[in-house]
Amino acid sequence: MEIKISQDLDTEVLVINKFEGEKTSQELANTYAVEKDNFEGKLGTTYLLHTYGKIPADKILVIGFGKKEEFDGTKMTEAAAKAVKKLKQIKAKKAVFNFDGVSQYGKEAVIGAYIGDYSFDKYKTEKDTHLEELSFSNFDENDIKEGKIFAEAMYLTRNIANEPAEYATPTKLAEIATQIEGLDTKIYDKEEIKKMNMGAYLAVARGSAEPPKFIHMKYSNGNPKKRIALIGKGLCFDSGGMDLKPASSMLTMRDDMSGAACILGVMSALNKLKPQNIEIHGIIAACENMPGQNAYKPGDILTAKNGKTIEVDNTDAEGRLTLADALCYASELKVDEVIDIATLTGACMVALGSVASGVMGNDEDMIKDIIKTAQNSGEKYWQLPMFEEYMNSLKSDIADMKNTGSRYGGASAAGVFLKEFVSNVKWVHIDVAGTAFLEKPQGIFIYGSTGVGVRTLLNYVTK
Ligand code: BES
Ligand code: MG
Ligand code: ZN
Repeated sequence: MEIKISQDLDTEVLVINKFEGEKTSQELANTYAVEKDNFEGKLGTTYLLHTYGKIPADKILVIGFGKKEEFDGTKMTEAAAKAVKKLKQIKAKKAVFNFDGVSQYGKEAVIGAYIGDYSFDKYKTEKDTHLEELSFSNFDENDIKEGKIFAEAMYLTRNIANEPAEYATPTKLAEIATQIEGLDTKIYDKEEIKKMNMGAYLAVARGSAEPPKFIHMKYSNGNPKKRIALIGKGLCFDSGGMDLKPASSMLTMRDDMSGAACILGVMSALNKLKPQNIEIHGIIAACENMPGQNAYKPGDILTAKNGKTIEVDNTDAEGRLTLADALCYASELKVDEVIDIATLTGACMVALGSVASGVMGNDEDMIKDIIKTAQNSGEKYWQLPMFEEYMNSLKSDIADMKNTGSRYGGASAAGVFLKEFVSNVKWVHIDVAGTAFLEKPQGIFIYGSTGVGVRTLLNYVTK
């Protein structure tokens, strides 16, 4: 889909908006949609009419914007996505968004259009239909450009996370990271990871024939006033390891690198957005969790990078082991803030469903800031507690801690576990187990990866 900025309304489909209780900017639409057919304009609903040559455009698509006083950027994204879905459904090739009274939401409109256009048809013989050209009028040019950068970052993330594990291996993630322009990127292989004393991460990687890759990308511009490290859980496949998952739970575990895919998307946008006086690190401890002959075993005792020992209670709680070492590494970078994003616990999914991501951390202000940024980015984040009592169930008789404890409060237990590996830095953990990958369509998102985290983290680091 090609994005254009144009005031030319001579097109195939002219897309206009309607708020509830108000008229549209178009006489034809007012006569037919509003007066004759009582089209109300509830958010995301559409009304299509042919113009029979009365105006230059062949068709008018009216898209409902809901109540004017409730309209915001998130609703803009939703309406734009629904409009594009409708355009695809009628197999339109060219359209113009000619919205009235919402000129400040150009960025959100482009993001929505891309979300509505997205599909993952790489492996299908018969490809999906797409809009060829979409023009935006009545918006700020810079907002359109920024929206396009955000949307392309989401595309990259969703494409990587949707790929089968066979394709999106740790080596492939490293290759993608290396190809992102404008970053200083270093890939550490197994021997180098060993030298860095990442005993927890390496143990997880051991059972797979695919070698682990520790990825460190760095963006820096100007004289950094703030330094942030972003970590993404990069389990290219999570079979559960020796504590093998049942088939139904394993099916979608190619998505267990959604955090990593998010960070790759975010890092890919930085050199285009060029935020000033900031240093941003993207870190991924990529590997697979497999029950191969060298696999780590329940009862093993691992030593993380910071020297803390962990008794393996369950090999399926592998994400926190890889993150433990990545958090130690990030802490050593002496950054101001660390954010990790991870498909970490089924328990988070039980608590919040696929609607919201769970947020924890060691700094209330930073947690609030992230949640607020998410809200303004069209994502829903919800804080979960980190009471120190959750650590009780992780007590070990033979090591400093176990990697799992009680089934109950599992998302919080994972949170307090991670906290053991964060030192002297503000930190927020985002559990996207329920939100990163949809098993059925939800709202404007189709089956598969949602690219959760991309919009929030990009808005957070560029604000
Ligand atoms: N990758 C899973 C978490 C997950 C579950 C992500 C469902 C997406 C959807 C994680 O590694 C895992 O297996 N967690 C275990 C932890 C348990 C053994 C304490 C879980 O949630 O069951
Ligand atoms: Mg697991
Ligand atoms: Zn996992």
